[in-house]
Amino acid sequence: MIKKVRIEYLKPGIFVHDFNCGFNSSYLLANQALIKDIKIIDHLRSFGIKEVYIDTDKGDDINDAEPEIEAKQGTDKGLRRLASEEPVSIRNVPLKEELLVAQNIKNQAVNVIQNAIKNVSEGKPLETAEAYDLIAKMEKSVTRNRDALVLLARIRKKDEYTLMHSISVGAYVLNFCNFYKVPHKRTLSLAIGALFHDIGKTKIPLSILNKPGKLEEAEFAEMKRHALYSAEVLQSATDLPEEAYDMGLHHHERYDGSGYPHGLKGDEIKTGSQLCAIADVFDAITSDRCYRNGMGRVEGLRKLYEWSEHHFNKDLTHKFIRSIGVYPIGSCVRLDSGRIGVVVGSTENLMQPVVRIFHDEKSKGTFPVQDLDLSLTDDQVVSYEDPEKWNINSMNLFEKSISDLLTL
Ligand SMILES: [Fe+2]
Ligand SMILES: [Fe+2]
Repeated sequence: MIKKVRIEYLKPGIFVHDFNCGFNSSYLLANQALIKDIKIIDHLRSFGIKEVYIDTDKGDDINDAEPEIEAKQGTDKGLRRLASEEPVSIRNVPLKEELLVAQNIKNQAVNVIQNAIKNVSEGKPLETAEAYDLIAKMEKSVTRNRDALVLLARIRKKDEYTLMHSISVGAYVLNFCNFYKVPHKRTLSLAIGALFHDIGKTKIPLSILNKPGKLEEAEFAEMKRHALYSAEVLQSATDLPEEAYDMGLHHHERYDGSGYPHGLKGDEIKTGSQLCAIADVFDAITSDRCYRNGMGRVEGLRKLYEWSEHHFNKDLTHKFIRSIGVYPIGSCVRLDSGRIGVVVGSTENLMQPVVRIFHDEKSKGTFPVQDLDLSLTDDQVVSYEDPEKWNINSMNLFEKSISDLLTL
């Protein structure tokens, strides 16, 4: 059985099933290990790890540890509570319509970021005029439909990670600002910081950046320097707000002080950098990387919720989750009526997404696929479903339908 435990309860003989460390880079860690030596606990602590998952079938048990299934139920309950808080009215152009517009914005974003990378690698200062023009368009796109741009940025080749990641983090931050009606000037600062938070990676050798295997200690130390490099590059731009510069420097700081480069704690970390950290981690864990496949978006939300206990500002993380929607596009859900489907759109009510139903427990034989807008019915989501149980990769299915749409 998989159980969740605090690391102080670990001892030799226990098998760690998941280090639960995606909030920080896990470059130096294997995913699973049998604890042979008590020293490993200090090593885990140095990564900021507070809780891990153990497998009691492969190692010793800890009796009063919480089974994973119960921990997940608690998290899901918390997520539903977040979604049911007072409704936020958001305008929503149908996804299909916005995808066609957002495709051009994505192309422009690729150009802007590639130009910036080229200039920086030639030692020129960062130019922001093009980026501000792009941000104005991205802002309009996420205001019309919060999902289109982020979904498009998910369609990427593995070596395009840093490029598309910048667009995604920018789009998540803009969506957050739109959702909470952040004043325009502040929105621009946060967006430009988000878009260029990893620009310092330009100075990291590709052999480290795209290394498929585990990084050696020295390589990892160099990788961590990208935050300092980002700050250097951002400082070279003439009209950059202080908050945006700080997002480059401090997006790997963690609320509990376990981050880098300065080990800042709590509100020593500026709000923009805290927000950037949350969007950064959410995109990182839900994206495919050169060394592993990304987790589903629901699992990503569960992890953010779980880690907000220690590693992020809890209130800000909960707000971020609400801005994405507790049933993000691509999540597989079960309805009260026994129907199963994949979320394909959002409505003004976070609890009532549009669901593409592909299975009905009551109907025998083949079930015709149909879209159901839950804000127009009495039916409701009762739980998340594991897409693997239904033999689907819901996000892949969804991405394929986007590609089909855009090549029409
Ligand atoms: Fe980073
Ligand atoms: Fe990042």
